[in-house]
Amino acid sequence: MAAERIAVGIVGAGPAGLLLGHLLQRAGIESVTVEVRSEPHVIERVRAGVLEQTTVDVLREAGVGTRLASEGLRHEGLYLAFDGERHRLDLTDLTCGRAITIYGQNEIVRDLIDARRAAGGQVIFDAERVAISEADGERPHLHVRAHGVERTYACDYLAGCDGFHGITRASMPPSAVRAFERVHPFTWLGILAQAAPASPELVYCLHEDGFALFSMRSTGVTRLYLQCGPDERLEDWPDERIWRELRARLRMHDGWEPNQGPILQKSLTGMRSFVVEPMRFGRLFLAGDAAHIVPPTGAKGLNLAVADVWRLARALDERYRTGSAAALDRYSDAGLRRAWRAQRFSCWMTSLLHRPEGASAFDRRRQLADLDYLVHSRAAMTSLAENYVGFPLD
Ligand code: FAD
Ligand code: PHB
Repeated sequence: MAAERIAVGIVGAGPAGLLLGHLLQRAGIESVTVEVRSEPHVIERVRAGVLEQTTVDVLREAGVGTRLASEGLRHEGLYLAFDGERHRLDLTDLTCGRAITIYGQNEIVRDLIDARRAAGGQVIFDAERVAISEADGERPHLHVRAHGVERTYACDYLAGCDGFHGITRASMPPSAVRAFERVHPFTWLGILAQAAPASPELVYCLHEDGFALFSMRSTGVTRLYLQCGPDERLEDWPDERIWRELRARLRMHDGWEPNQGPILQKSLTGMRSFVVEPMRFGRLFLAGDAAHIVPPTGAKGLNLAVADVWRLARALDERYRTGSAAALDRYSDAGLRRAWRAQRFSCWMTSLLHRPEGASAFDRRRQLADLDYLVHSRAAMTSLAENYVGFPLD
């Protein structure tokens, strides 16, 4: 069977793969995106919620920001809570006017799929088999079997946007890459509840039983997380136990606590830090979780994925418009610098706010002193705020 020629083959239709296809299409570069899961699964997966200012700007400038503008919740501050008190950090004041926006990752994915479809873009869901070959050659091949039909695409470039468990990173020869990893010794139990958010802004809380996070998705849906042990099972967490633990950790001396309501969704997420270097092998470029994973405490994963594909789309555009591969050659170094900065921040936020394994009374006092310093030092708050709202793309 003859291979079909295409400029860019994209593996994975998460936020990274969908946004890359969309940005390329706007630049007049043809691509095909292949995804192993179904479209409803990709849309319904509950994950990120916090968008940096630059992520919002990229989505708006790419023409997929209409619903985000009307339904996203702009937040100009957040709370750090410990010892039963909440302390507000004014993100906007600390960062000369920047802010974050709450808008579910699944809503971004829905908007991007609609945009890809409206533009006649090729997105193949439910692929039964996806493989790549000749990644280091002049024309890497993307092989797909979907709905019983086999296809091979001969691509100028391949984009690995297939997340941490995908195939693209695994296809890079071990001698050509180096991986850096830390698995953190706890998980997050996350729930979505049908309950109006009890606070207009997020509350990151350190309690002696561990971390808890109050977040939201909309004016009627609250998102909550609890730090749990590494081998926790969802069966051991009936709804009453979840609410009991959330109330114990998040109830403040002034009586504030999250509103309760029916639990719509529950999940457990492991906490991992991971970076692969370089983010490129020949004509294969990795983007998003395929290249790096950060613990979610810093709310950085989706934002890093957006920054990667924004840069990759610009570099490919330059390549096709001018013939210069200079921006493609800079892609990995620029991405790694941003990824390590996010890694640093996410590891720091994680250790600041989580109860470490076998924590001693000394550890607890030291953590409280860290938090006390943070909320009383403008310099320390500014550092947290500028990292949290995110750095410019260039
Ligand atoms: P993914 O979303 O993992 O998408 C990869 C896609 O590739 C998937 O659809 C997968 O099915 C597909 N795929 C896999 N293998 C193959 C294959 N062989 N062939 C074809 N397709 C394949 N980030 C933030 O910025 N802010 C937050 O507030 C935040 N909160 C989070 C909370 C939780 C509980 C979790 C788990 C994550 C959170 N993140 C957050 C991280 C964020 O969700 C991820 O970083 C983001 O999904 C990365 O997008 P991606 O497109 O790179 O990868
Ligand atoms: C979320 O709303 O899902 C969320 C918020 C902040 C985080 C992580 C996740 O740090």
